Amino acid sequence: MIALDGVTVRFGGLVALDAISAQFEAAVSGIIGPNGAGKTTTMNVISGFLTPKSGAVVVDGTDLVGMSPHKRPHWGLRRSFQREQIADDLSVLGNLLSLADNLHGSRAERRANVDAALEFVGITAMAGRMGASLNTYERRLTDLARCLVGQPRLIMLDEPAGGLTVEESAHLGDIILRIGGFCPAQVLVIDHDVDLIARICAQTLVLDFGRRIAFGPTAAVLADPAVKAAYLGIEVDHA
Ligand SMILES: Nc1ncnc2c1ncn2[C@@H]1O[C@H](COP(=O)(O)OP(=O)(O)OP(=O)(O)O)[C@@H](O)[C@H]1O
Ligand SMILES: [Mg+2]
Repeated sequence: MIALDGVTVRFGGLVALDAISAQFEAAVSGIIGPNGAGKTTTMNVISGFLTPKSGAVVVDGTDLVGMSPHKRPHWGLRRSFQREQIADDLSVLGNLLSLADNLHGSRAERRANVDAALEFVGITAMAGRMGASLNTYERRLTDLARCLVGQPRLIMLDEPAGGLTVEESAHLGDIILRIGGFCPAQVLVIDHDVDLIARICAQTLVLDFGRRIAFGPTAAVLADPAVKAAYLGIEVDHA
């Protein structure tokens, strides 16, 4: 379980996250909201890039706020970024191996982990391609494979379907839904593609201007008038 308890983040006068609490229990959960809502900031707190002004992040009983950054990959934390971080001058295989270099285990074990991740995502045939030669979809798949190397416990994907076609996004969703059969990691997904979120996320947190607008089963959350209003940027009709 991923438990956020009263997480508050301020940037100067801006309250980017205002006492956010949520308990994600689903295998795949989502975070949605308009631009600037605080979605990436939430992932930055969970992954330790940001220390919250107050609040706690506890995953499977472990307090992540106090965990040093170099321990996080060993613990099993993986994430992708809104702008994917594929090295252009490394092959797909090299990109995965450079992540594996930070993990425990023998060279052979790490290589086996990388091969398993490539195979699971279905990009084994792409292993020798250079990062620079990959299109958007191939980069997203490579990024996802990187998150699956080793023994991940928590995988956070920041807009994994950004820039993808409807078909590509659907295929990515299929792969994300199958992650539970590959490793026991919980997955947290941010995306603006609400159809993708509705299909793959059992629970969803909705943020707007750093505040929690809704949290719960995705279908119920998406049907909430306050969510529709926040997401579409229209006023709630109180009449
Ligand atoms: N390092 C920072 N310094 C100052 N302000 C920041 C910083 N990071 C984020 N912010 C501000 O915090 C707010 C939340 O940003 P965040 O990146 O979490 O939004 P988001 O929900 O991920 O939006 P998007 O959908 O555009 O990616 C925004 O107003 C943003 O400008
Ligand atoms: Mg963001």
